[in-house]
Amino acid sequence: MLFRVENLVHQYSDGTIALGGISLSFDHGERIALLGTNGSGKTTLLNHFNGILKPTLGQIFFEDKPLEYNSKALLELRRRVGFVFQDPNDQLFAPSVKQDVAFGPLNLGLTPEEVKKIVDEALETVGMSEFSEKPPHFLSLGQKKRVALAGVLAMQPEIIIMDEPTSNLDPRATSEILHLLLQLNKEKNITLFLATHDVDMVPLFATEMYILNKGKLVSKGTPKESLTNGNLIRQVNLRSPRITHLFEVLKTADKLPISDELPLTISEARREIIRLMQQK
Ligand SMILES: Nc1ncnc2c1ncn2[C@@H]1O[C@H](COP(=O)(O)OP(=O)(O)OP(=O)(O)O)[C@@H](O)[C@H]1O
Ligand SMILES: [Mg+2]
Repeated sequence: MLFRVENLVHQYSDGTIALGGISLSFDHGERIALLGTNGSGKTTLLNHFNGILKPTLGQIFFEDKPLEYNSKALLELRRRVGFVFQDPNDQLFAPSVKQDVAFGPLNLGLTPEEVKKIVDEALETVGMSEFSEKPPHFLSLGQKKRVALAGVLAMQPEIIIMDEPTSNLDPRATSEILHLLLQLNKEKNITLFLATHDVDMVPLFATEMYILNKGKLVSKGTPKESLTNGNLIRQVNLRSPRITHLFEVLKTADKLPISDELPLTISEARREIIRLMQQK
């Protein structure tokens, strides 16, 4: 198993119990979406995957070995586990975009030519090449987010953990980042673990969906299993994807003969509409 979390409790120094005993595991190549309302503990959980936070109780295993918190072990862990923070201002610090993206690769002892190639590629991938000389703090929030992702890509990680990858991104950037992540997963088997509020996006990329509620893991399943479970979704104050909601209304209020398995995406909705029209 790539990561295994056993009975993880996290209590902050002011006494807040942000995680109240979480157990989960995931393997190479999975694409996991973590959902939950504000304050449910998503960021707290993610911060345990690369040792930013240490469990108050419980244990985390990486490739079946317990995480170690000395600086050598953490450096190695962080090389393999790329982490994009919820707030890019917490991540970017160098005087220019290209220096920021170069920081990780330079620390790996690569030559300046190798580093330049990696940085250029990473900035190209996130569509930020033209900003390479700019100080990161002058960028817009969405631009900062892309640079932060470029910094992570430049390390060629095996796992990418992202805390709300698409918040503050415009629709085009959202879809580009999503495609990029899917491509990395399919071509390089990079494991994805993303915390998100975007329920419309989840069925497009996730193989597995976890829901946190008040520091407890209340659901694990495929997006289909979780997002079509109306009772669960309401109970944890989430919502269904808009397209699913539309078909639910057409089924219950308008009595259209929609199948019980409601569509989660536009392409599933399209198939359902074609099926309905052929029935007539
Ligand atoms: N440094 C801290 N000290 C004390 N309490 C904290 C700290 N960081 C987070 N918390 C608390 O822990 C709980 C979980 O917070 P967390 O940031 O993990 O939630 P989240 O699910 O990521 O929320 P959001 O969707 O708003 O990003 C919240 O009640 C929060 O107030
Ligand atoms: Mg958060």
